[in-house]
Amino acid sequence: MNSALRAAARVAAELKLTLVGIENGYAGLLRGAAGAMDLRALDDAARRGGTLLGTSRCEAFRTPEGQAEARRQVSALGLSALVVIGGNGSLAGAHALHGAQAAKGPLHIAGIPASIDNDLGCTSMAIGVDTAMNTIVEACDRLCDTATAHRRTFIVEVMGRDCGYLAMTAGIAAGADMVLVPETGRDEASIVEQVIATVERAYADGSSRRRVLILKAEGVKVEAAAIKRALDERTKVKMPDVDSRVTVLGHIVRGGTPSAFDRLLAARLANAALRGVFAGLSNFMTGWVGPTPVHPASTFDPYIVLAPLGEVLQETARILRGETEIAAWRARVYREVETVLDR
Ligand code: F6P
Repeated sequence: MNSALRAAARVAAELKLTLVGIENGYAGLLRGAAGAMDLRALDDAARRGGTLLGTSRCEAFRTPEGQAEARRQVSALGLSALVVIGGNGSLAGAHALHGAQAAKGPLHIAGIPASIDNDLGCTSMAIGVDTAMNTIVEACDRLCDTATAHRRTFIVEVMGRDCGYLAMTAGIAAGADMVLVPETGRDEASIVEQVIATVERAYADGSSRRRVLILKAEGVKVEAAAIKRALDERTKVKMPDVDSRVTVLGHIVRGGTPSAFDRLLAARLANAALRGVFAGLSNFMTGWVGPTPVHPASTFDPYIVLAPLGEVLQETARILRGETEIAAWRARVYREVETVLDR
């Protein structure tokens, strides 16, 4: 989120807008806690996780009185636009403020998706997801050293609220043997049976496998410890030399140095949000979808298109010759970015 703030501050300066930061999310808005943002501090913060502005889960803002107070603060602070960075709750809050009156007409509202859960619509990625995924993969790699040395099963629980995206993607990247996500809707008994079957297959006679890595999304409402207990009970007789451990990664996944992809994603989403409200748009969220696909999504994966190779090569040649819309856009953005960065 700091990268989004940094980009917002730079683009605001470029557009000659006065940008103020609201502290601690909606809790700060209710108190009118807003102040200037220091570009140099943001340059530094952009390399770190979290948010320089602070954040909160604000119950008061959810009430009709809280929202009336937020509208009053918008006008008292003299805001003309509000850019909200956050997940489902934050964006719902932004939408609820639609129609609020600002100093010169209605308040312009933009949302920027930020949530490691990646459970937001209209964007294929939200800020934080890539960093969280990398953190999980690194943790799994480390755990696999012990797992392999001891011939153990590790059940690793990761955040994601009710969404299995993080567990599934990180599990694939980490080379997990099994991923448990809430979307499959399995009950406790069938989850336990599934885990036992995987472990028994992995350590069957003649198998060279030395570890089993299972990623469990927190949205799966069976405790990892309960799965472990049931597993140990079943394996202790048949496979006494095989044991298991549980690691709950918790909030570790939500912090740390943001990945390069996350920094760039945040900057691009913030850039478009600022330019959107500046152009007079309101009540929108910037989403990451890549260029509108010419080819329809494949039936295998909605994010994957199957482009004919001949077309790919022709298009590549046109990009390299600067003949495509993408090439023209890149040239324009390179010029824009030069001035935004030079501050
Ligand atoms: O929505 C982000 C998230 O980290 C979820 O993955 C998790 O369930 C929740 O927030 C944790 O919330 P808190 O930080 O309030 O414990």
